[in-house]
Amino acid sequence: MGNWVEACAADDIDGEDLIRFDYDGHSYAIYRSPEDEYFATDGLCTHEQVHLEDGLVMGDTIECPKHNGVFNYKTGEAKGAPVCVNLKTYAVKVEGGSVFIDVGR
Ligand code: FES
Repeated sequence: MGNWVEACAADDIDGEDLIRFDYDGHSYAIYRSPEDEYFATDGLCTHEQVHLEDGLVMGDTIECPKHNGVFNYKTGEAKGAPVCVNLKTYAVKVEGGSVFIDVGR
C-alpha cells in the first residue's frame, strides 16, 4: 500500500538539482538527476537537522550546506564524516508531467 502524494511538476526541478517539499508536517527533498530521473529523501540532514534544499547536487550525491556532509540521494547512504546516519528515501514516480512521492503514511 502506497500513499502517493503529488509534490510538484517535473519541470519545477532543474537537472542535477533539488527542491524542498513539505507535506503533513514532514519535510522532503526531491531530486532530479543529471539523467532526468527523480528521487526523494527526507529533507533534513541526519547530522544537525538542517534542510538540504540549499545543498549542492553533484552526480548522484547531495552535499549538506552546513558542514558539507555528503549523501547518495538515490540510496540515502551517508558517504562520510560528519554524517553517519543514512537518509530515509522514498519511492518516486512521474505521471502526466507531475512528480509523486510515496510518503508511506
Ligand atoms: S548539518 Fe548536515 S553535515 Fe552537519
